Amino acid sequence: MPFLNRLSGLTFSDFERNLESEPALIAEITEKMLLAQANAAAQEAGAIVGAAQRELDAMGGLVTPLLVGICERYYGVPVSDPSMFPLWAMAVSNYLFDAFPAAADAHAQARAGAERLCAAVDEAIAGGPAADTVLGRLLAAQAQANGVPDNQTIRTIIVSLVTAIVPTGTLAAGNMLEMLLRRGDMMTAAREATGTGDDELLSRCLFEALRFMPISPFWRRDAKRDFFLAPGKRLPEGTHVLASTYSAMFDARQVRQPNRFDPTRPASDYMLFGHGLHYCLGGAFASAVIPAILKPLLLCRIVARAPGPRGQRAFFAIFPERLFVTLQR
Ligand code: HEM
Repeated sequence: MPFLNRLSGLTFSDFERNLESEPALIAEITEKMLLAQANAAAQEAGAIVGAAQRELDAMGGLVTPLLVGICERYYGVPVSDPSMFPLWAMAVSNYLFDAFPAAADAHAQARAGAERLCAAVDEAIAGGPAADTVLGRLLAAQAQANGVPDNQTIRTIIVSLVTAIVPTGTLAAGNMLEMLLRRGDMMTAAREATGTGDDELLSRCLFEALRFMPISPFWRRDAKRDFFLAPGKRLPEGTHVLASTYSAMFDARQVRQPNRFDPTRPASDYMLFGHGLHYCLGGAFASAVIPAILKPLLLCRIVARAPGPRGQRAFFAIFPERLFVTLQR
């Protein structure tokens, strides 16, 4: 996994060493707090949409700040600069997940972002285990187990969680909303599900919309040794492979009527959270929180693009930083 080495460099820690403990920690964390976080996000999103007049920046004024709020409330990371915090995380994510990072400035931006995120986490670590947060629980575990996990490990885990949720969640929610704004059938289905209070169907509509614009069309793998993929398909050591999960989700040999928007599809038609060994550890968390954030928006009678450039996504790297919508209740 090329991004793991890059993360180690940015958080000044040996990430491979921490991999064994991380899945268990994240699984325990997300299951415990999933519902509470989704409910809190839904409430806050409802308040933001309720207070908006006719126009709202769905990314910079809704999705991203709520995800940053989760970092503060749930992870336990103090956010001193709410407008810069997501940009630091996006700079890190942009560098980590770029299949072939070449631009020197992407590395420099990621380093600067990582330094700010690390400083925020270090500040919280120095404060000790105060509240019931992910960080608080890690510090409590450390105190009970003679300093294990150590501070560097804790810092790496927390920075990777921030990097996983803020940029990725912003990208996923932005792509869902973009598809809904492009396609009337998707918007109608999502609004109908919201209107009838069918949260399961709403979630299905949003993730089906994401199938048409996933967070990445492919994921990079490197062959560390000669590898036989299938009879006659040998990958020599050193081969870079782009596994196109996007293309797989539109493969008519496996997916029935792939070009149709169909929220009733079986789970096996989706690879939005990856597949196999590296399947997303935050899938359940993201699936609960993102629909909860978008739901109040879809309860409006009309949600449309704001006129002019404000109604088009403005990006920081690949992440939608702004997208203004007009609302009619
Ligand atoms: C809608 C939002 C999200 C999407 C679409 C998403 C998607 C993905 C995908 C496709 C992968 C696999 C990458 C690969 O195979 O190289 C992945 C891995 C991962 N995700 Fe997510 N993710 C999301 C949110 C999150 C959240 C909220 C967390 C943490 C709380 C998280 C934690 C991780 C981790 C730790 C991995 C690496 C797993 C491993 O390598 O074993 N993700 N994610």
